[in-house]
Amino acid sequence: MKLIWKFNLLLFGIFLLGFAIAGVVSWRVLQANAREEIVQNARLMMEAALSSRTYTTAQVKPLLDTQLKYVFLPQTVPAYAATELFNEMRKKHPDYVYKEATLNPTNPRDRASDWEADIVNVFRASPDNKEVVGERDTPTGRALYLARPIQATGTCLVCHSSIEVAPKTMVDLYGPANGFGWKMNEVIGAQVVSVPMSVPIARANQTFRTFMLSLAGVFIVTFLLLDAMLHVMVIRRVTRLAKAADQVSLGHMDASEFKARSRDEIGVLTEAIGRMKTSLVQAMKMLES
Ligand code: HEC
Repeated sequence: MKLIWKFNLLLFGIFLLGFAIAGVVSWRVLQANAREEIVQNARLMMEAALSSRTYTTAQVKPLLDTQLKYVFLPQTVPAYAATELFNEMRKKHPDYVYKEATLNPTNPRDRASDWEADIVNVFRASPDNKEVVGERDTPTGRALYLARPIQATGTCLVCHSSIEVAPKTMVDLYGPANGFGWKMNEVIGAQVVSVPMSVPIARANQTFRTFMLSLAGVFIVTFLLLDAMLHVMVIRRVTRLAKAADQVSLGHMDASEFKARSRDEIGVLTEAIGRMKTSLVQAMKMLES
């Protein structure tokens, strides 16, 4: 096998290995970053929901307490406020979803779907679990969901324990069928935030492609440069030297000059062969005379 082939094969192997390792590592890092960004988005949405809940309880409800005796205003309910806030947002960003998924909801729109009910049951089974993060396929693409449990406390039972205890105006509005019978400290549902994954993932994929293409570009240029250098600095000179030595071996003593232009290893070898030729010529002259 020619030297250049051996060299190229080795170089190609090294490049391929480096390319694969860089590919796997950067892919993992980029995907992890993208996912982290999505989780961060979801957490931010969760915090916004919690803030709107707190705001409603602390600032809106006290103002309307007297009103509530005559007519029940859902606007004073934190769950309603948070859900409505995100419904407004969904008009512009339909892929972002917030839901107070509840097993036995007062408002049927909050009823947990199958996959949400599974999450609620995870929280019910392990009270120490305060957050669940997962991924699922939706009609608009893959989405990441983040869920936190909703627990019923003493204040909640005023409205959610039984029809007798609940404000009459509320029962009038929502009916007696749903949203009652919640127990103290029971996990009755989960706040579920759903964030689309497509945009950050697409951006990560784009970055990955650009990185791998530029890496391939650097590899190809290095490859070509090394090949050219090998050809000029080694192969061409060794071939010339071999040809000249060949001529000498056939007896054509003055066919070529053994002049080295550089003092590198091949230059030294050229000069050594040159001296050898000179000695050979002298020895032959001595023999002839
Ligand atoms: C003044 C009565 C009242 C109190 C107090 C109250 N809720 Fe509600 N809650 C409601 C009403 C009414 C709804 C339905 C709102 C709607 O139409 O979306 C509701 C809805 C919810 C929902 C959404 C699921 C559903 O039932 O539709 C959750 C979750 C919830 N409440 C949890 C709580 C928790 C937790 C507390 C205590 C911290 C609490 N609620 C206190 C009246 C109340």
